[in-house]
Amino acid sequence: MSFSHVTSAEGLRPVSVKEMRRIDRTAIERYKIPGLILMDHAGRAVASVVERFRPRTRKKAVSVFCGGGNNGGDGFAAARYLALQGHRVTVVTAVPLDRTSGDAATELAPLRELKVPLIVFKSSQKLLESLDRPHVVVDALLGTGAQGPLRPPYRELIDLMNGWKCPVVAADVPSGLDADTGEVPETAVRARVTVTMGYPKKGLVARRARRWVGRLLVADIGFPQIASGR
Ligand SMILES: NC(=O)c1ccc[n+]([C@@H]2O[C@H](COP(=O)([O-])OP(=O)(O)OC[C@H]3O[C@@H](n4cnc5c(N)ncnc54)[C@H](OP(=O)(O)O)[C@@H]3O)[C@@H](O)[C@H]2O)c1
Repeated sequence: MSFSHVTSAEGLRPVSVKEMRRIDRTAIERYKIPGLILMDHAGRAVASVVERFRPRTRKKAVSVFCGGGNNGGDGFAAARYLALQGHRVTVVTAVPLDRTSGDAATELAPLRELKVPLIVFKSSQKLLESLDRPHVVVDALLGTGAQGPLRPPYRELIDLMNGWKCPVVAADVPSGLDADTGEVPETAVRARVTVTMGYPKKGLVARRARRWVGRLLVADIGFPQIASGR
């Protein structure tokens, strides 16, 4: 698999979450680009970055942690692309599967058919009993839609991911980090790489965010440049 649409964030003007939502809306409503296509490109970009990690020569064990919103949908799409490449993928969801809706639910459906193991998180102890330490973790718990203090079980999931001490690839934003300010009010995922969608978010380039964001890459997921009003 080779992808050319993931680049360094250098030289790109960061956007606020509000601006990003407007770009998203413009792409979908004005330019009729289906949100599902944007989500699928996002997942594929994340999968392409996971492929770069060791062991390069054989298939990897990858755990993909998915939240209940569209960030989780990015994770489902990444899980599918990785599974189709033959990697040993396990998906861990923060919410029951029947609470997934919209485009994220569409991305979830093929995982069931492909028999990708789907684990609904109950407790860290239970999860650690059923899941060995993976080679790479994908954090798709919370993106730009995160609001307020972390609600259960997100904090526990973040601690679990960090505890494994294996490389984490964050989809869009490391969970727990404020995408506008770069602040971490409680705790956040310590990503090795963050693959942010479309444009770097202001919080990701803040100095204080460096230790959580890791290397920042930007994925071109198909926003028309005109939608950004630049
Ligand atoms: N066009 C698109 O749709 C598109 C394109 C590309 C990428 N994306 C991805 O979608 C993301 C934005 O999706 P989104 O707006 O659905 O938001 P999100 O970042 O997925 O967050 C929303 C989800 O997180 C939960 N949540 C919010 N704050 C929380 C907290 N403090 N503690 C625990 N749970 C919390 C919400 O639960 P409740 O609903 O219960 O509040 C909801 O399930 C982006 O970051 C990007 O990754 C979307």
